Amino acid sequence: MKYIKMNKRVKVTLLTALVLANLSFKGAPGDEKNPPLLTVDGLQFADLNRNGKLDVYEDYRRTIEDRVNDLVAQMTEDEKASFVLGTGMPGYDGITPVVGAIEGRVPGAAGGTYEIERLGIPAIIVADGPAGLRIKPKRDNDTNTYYCTAFPVGTALASTWNTELIESVGKAMGNEVKEYGIDVLLAPALNIHRNPLCGRNFEYYSEDPLVSGKIAAAMVNGIQSNGVGTSIKHFAANNQETNRLSINEHISERAMRELYLKNFEITVKESQPWTVMSSYNLINGTYTSAREDLLTEILRNEWGFKGIVMTDWFGGYAGFESLKGTSNVTAQLTAGNDLLMPGMDQQKKSILADLKSGKLSKDVLDRNIKRILELVMKSPVTKKYKYTDKPDLKGNAKVTRDAAAEGMVLLKNESNVLPYTNKTGTIAAFGVTSYSFIAGGTGSGDVNEAYTISLLDGLSNAGFKLDEELKKVYVPFAEKENKKELARREKEGLLVPPPRFSELDMTTDFIAQRAAADDLAIITLGRNSGEGGDRAISDFNIGTDEAKLIDDVSKAFHAKGKKVVVILNIGGVMETASWKNKVDAILLAWQPGQEGGNSVADVLSGKVNPSGKLTMTFPVKYEDTPSAKNWLGTPADNPKEVTYEEGVYVGYRYYNTFNVKPSYEFGYGKSYTTFDYTDVRLGSKAFDKTMTVTVTVKNNGKVAGKEVVEVYLSAPAKNIDKPKSELKAFGKTKELKPGESQTLTLTLSAKDLASFVESKSAWVAEAGTYTVSVGASSFDIKKTATFTLAKEQEVEKVKKAFAADKKFADMKP
Ligand code: BGC
Repeated sequence: MKYIKMNKRVKVTLLTALVLANLSFKGAPGDEKNPPLLTVDGLQFADLNRNGKLDVYEDYRRTIEDRVNDLVAQMTEDEKASFVLGTGMPGYDGITPVVGAIEGRVPGAAGGTYEIERLGIPAIIVADGPAGLRIKPKRDNDTNTYYCTAFPVGTALASTWNTELIESVGKAMGNEVKEYGIDVLLAPALNIHRNPLCGRNFEYYSEDPLVSGKIAAAMVNGIQSNGVGTSIKHFAANNQETNRLSINEHISERAMRELYLKNFEITVKESQPWTVMSSYNLINGTYTSAREDLLTEILRNEWGFKGIVMTDWFGGYAGFESLKGTSNVTAQLTAGNDLLMPGMDQQKKSILADLKSGKLSKDVLDRNIKRILELVMKSPVTKKYKYTDKPDLKGNAKVTRDAAAEGMVLLKNESNVLPYTNKTGTIAAFGVTSYSFIAGGTGSGDVNEAYTISLLDGLSNAGFKLDEELKKVYVPFAEKENKKELARREKEGLLVPPPRFSELDMTTDFIAQRAAADDLAIITLGRNSGEGGDRAISDFNIGTDEAKLIDDVSKAFHAKGKKVVVILNIGGVMETASWKNKVDAILLAWQPGQEGGNSVADVLSGKVNPSGKLTMTFPVKYEDTPSAKNWLGTPADNPKEVTYEEGVYVGYRYYNTFNVKPSYEFGYGKSYTTFDYTDVRLGSKAFDKTMTVTVTVKNNGKVAGKEVVEVYLSAPAKNIDKPKSELKAFGKTKELKPGESQTLTLTLSAKDLASFVESKSAWVAEAGTYTVSVGASSFDIKKTATFTLAKEQEVEKVKKAFAADKKFADMKP
């Protein structure tokens, strides 16, 4: 710690401060060896006097605003230009980062902010990502390890529909962030699942903005409860990986507001994330990072966001070649994109030149700097938090194990084959993924965890016996495939998505022998994907090798009167319609994080009763997807633009309204018990400000379980077209014992009744009759009730945004 001898004036000020703050010294003033320590908000007073006088910015008794203003006033132009830029991405090849980019105090972090030592402004460190903290697990000349917990991926977490549980996951994740010395976690990621082939869907939560927003808000609240920040991303409409840096998306204002922004709106209002990350793509001709309507008018003025906006890494430049160009810097800073990550020298030159020419206003620059300073001031590094490098990895392993189990969705369970409790007979584990279990996706959403519990380990840990003969053929095969894949990743880098492993070819005789010897067959199907690429339709479909495996194993085991269970170890949606009738049970395990095998075993064995439900639709075939016709855009070989012609009809909003039957519908998921829905009641017959929906859920089965209750609303659609129904509220019961019941009360607001009417630039609730449907899925509606709205209500008037750059009309039913 730096300690500068205090002059008399400072001593007096200090003593006054102590009296005022009712705090006391430790040590004697003037004693160099035992300097006075006053800790306020984590700040040590001795540090506040580095230039021998107490400047306004150093004085903790002043408001943050005063202190920030003082700092800005003391910054040189050069420092200012540097301060809105990150300090580079060490080790990133291909692009020139800021000269002198250093690894920073936490190796493997994604970047940091600019340090100004003379003014006591430290660098804050930011790191990925959504499934847990991503840093390097090992460091040069250091025998310690820095592993982080790989939590379940976004789709898995969202499938719990349990905001309380998600908050506890966030809390656990945030503990690692704080204890490893990171200030802001670049998470959660909450883009809408517009199309099942998006390579990053596993990081995102849902096709529905309410589920997505509520889960993200819970996650932010949990993480930030540690006193560290989050960066909700990617704002907005980052729905494809192909040409993500340059794709121009034509989207109607209505679709933007009702779908692609709604989840961010909920998150901002319910959790005030410290930062927002703008996305790579353009919307209607302008980069999101340079859109004032998005970053200032909507985010700040409409929603009340108080933090900073940072770009995604190198965001706002059309393609890697022009990353060296600087044309967009001033547009970004002016639009309200405060911080440009990871920062490049060319950007600094451009800022200085534009300041000189007057193209960039000094006020804009100061405004952005002040916001960044406010972030720095509240970060652990400023508070000199003494991180331990020893987060609670043990405790967090339990958190991830339980969360993963609760996010699993039981898609099918014929004749109650699950839970499976036979621990004397043997289980035949088929499918290469049974032996090479996938904890999470690839890219920046990947985590460097210390271990992954494979499915086999999980089953063994739970006391199940496995077919050793089968293991003998699969283990070396899986090892070989794994090695091949690791070598590929090494060669092709982080951003080339992983292909699926081929299945082992076995003779029908060999499979028949397994059917004779074993009591149950498990077939695990795996899919992996990640940042930098989208999935192919062939990855959505099952391969001929997988179809053959399902056929052969099912025939052989059914011939012996034995059952077949499929486990889906996937990050996003895949085809199920062609094979689901051939097997007895299907457990959607998602990519369940490092404890995955244990979590699957918990559900298979009945230790945990599955209560997850789908947060997206599983269509019969890919071509049923409403965006399939325009997916990835045009020209097909190298898309430059894409038109969201499906408008608001994404996911179940489309399937239900256009009567297209999915394989498994939004909101679907089975349990080992059954629930009764009774006493559905509305607060009143006519809407006035709010409407409560009350429902009593009773467990009328034989085992304890939790139930997700979904409330859909069908609004009158005389003035504009609307989806048949939309999810407006949901809740989850506690674990109900057999015979036990719980009454849930959910509340609808006026905005829940409203749709966005572009011609009026307003959220409008139409007059008429509204139907509330309370269900266990979007199809399985248990009870309905109606209320009326006497007069049309303009719920919220906004400024027009997202002016079109191309003429097109949203699809209508
Ligand atoms: C990703 C972001 C990530 C950032 C920093 C980008 O490529 O899109 O999600 O946070 O890199 O690693």
